[in-house]
Amino acid sequence: MSRLFVSDHPLIQNKMAMLRDENTGAKDFREIVGEVAMLLSYEATRDLPLKDVQVQTPVAKADCRIVDAKLAIVPILRAGIGMTEGLLRLMPTAKIGHIGLYRDPNTLQPVEYYCKLPVDVAERTVFLTDPMLATGGTAEAAIGFLKEKGVKKIVFLCILAAPEGVEKIQKAHPDVDIYAAAYDEKLNDHGYIVPGLGDAGDRIFGTK
Ligand code: URA
Repeated sequence: MSRLFVSDHPLIQNKMAMLRDENTGAKDFREIVGEVAMLLSYEATRDLPLKDVQVQTPVAKADCRIVDAKLAIVPILRAGIGMTEGLLRLMPTAKIGHIGLYRDPNTLQPVEYYCKLPVDVAERTVFLTDPMLATGGTAEAAIGFLKEKGVKKIVFLCILAAPEGVEKIQKAHPDVDIYAAAYDEKLNDHGYIVPGLGDAGDRIFGTK
């Protein structure tokens, strides 16, 4: 079973209050999404493998450890892009891919309309981002696409998670851990997370 990590960090909770506030404008919203994503990625990278190295300090040789993994950040278009910068702050050498999906109105199945990934993505630990894990349909499909490309290690990061989305991911992809800044109560009839924060994409990009 995949793990669901929900942050209880005071700084994240403080920032979540600002994100939820309908009076927070696009500039602040975008910045705070980036900050929360950065703080979450600190937790989501806790299990990365390390290797021993020796470093020459100005005084002596020091036994150190460095991350022994190739990393990639893959935002799901469009709202996932809002989290990329925050993750990059902690993982500046990570490669970045993008996945775009839409729901076919007839079959209701997610269809990939854009996919550009690092050529060696199969060898990388992928941090997949989407601020809102609502029904989980998009995230489930994006994880499936990454696995089809040979990716073995995937971590999913979101700002808000709903029980429906978490359940879907845990069922379909029990090997994928989920990191969320908050876990909300439910979805409403329009698929919005309640109490949520509204449409994350529109609030990040100021399109509403
Ligand atoms: N997507 C959003 O942007 N907000 C929600 O509440 C659910 C899905």
